[in-house]
Amino acid sequence: MRLGVNIDHIATIREARKTYEPDPVKGALIAQDAGADQITFHLREDRRHIQDEDVIRLRCAIKRIPLNMEMAATEEMKNIAIDIKPDRVTLVPEKRQEITTEGGLDVVNMLSYLKEYIAQLKEAGISVATFIDPDEKQIDASIEAGVDAVELHTGEYANATGKDIQIQLERIRKAASYGKKKGISVFAGHGLTYTNVQPIAAIPEIEELNIGHSIIANSVFWGLHEAVYRMKKLMLEARENISGE
Ligand code: PXP
Repeated sequence: MRLGVNIDHIATIREARKTYEPDPVKGALIAQDAGADQITFHLREDRRHIQDEDVIRLRCAIKRIPLNMEMAATEEMKNIAIDIKPDRVTLVPEKRQEITTEGGLDVVNMLSYLKEYIAQLKEAGISVATFIDPDEKQIDASIEAGVDAVELHTGEYANATGKDIQIQLERIRKAASYGKKKGISVFAGHGLTYTNVQPIAAIPEIEELNIGHSIIANSVFWGLHEAVYRMKKLMLEARENISGE
């Protein structure tokens, strides 16, 4: 099971002062050293954390492990991706006022637009995933749109309390198994923390988790290397318990 470390919030701290530190590229290299299997970043339309220059510097620095660019399905972002060539693009919904990505991309309603959009990214040699709610209709639409993978939104699971946790977990399990059966790769992410990650990591069909906020938040206390290491260790422990992987 792979861990993609989302480095956006290193840039959030930097942008709080519009200064040069902490540098998300330095963070990406530390995460790589600590066992991250991928570096993930989100270039938002409002540039609230990652800046265009960071993207160029990330592409130059990160060669050993894949670079995953989260972005809205706009013309501007498509042109940047085709120019920079991240290893993967993950298409996410984006609203200007939101604090973070709320809900998955509605691939069902954007199908004809996304078919053309994804074809252009793939022609440029970029692998494409959609960030969707754990819903079979969204998985089917994503496959029809031409994706290589889906990333299941774990936000509702992360926010759930009481009995709802098991209900949300079951939804993710069912969607993961459906996606895998249909022949695409299944990833997951959003809102995962040191306390809620293990049940998700234990779902055998999920190949990769993308985790940002909790790792960066805890790096304030433990250092980034240790924060990445501890998250990956929890994931692998959960995995070993189910399959000896
Ligand atoms: N995956 C996707 C597609 C996201 O948009 C985000 C947030 O940028 C994450 C994973 C990471 O979420 P979090 O910061 O809550 O771990």
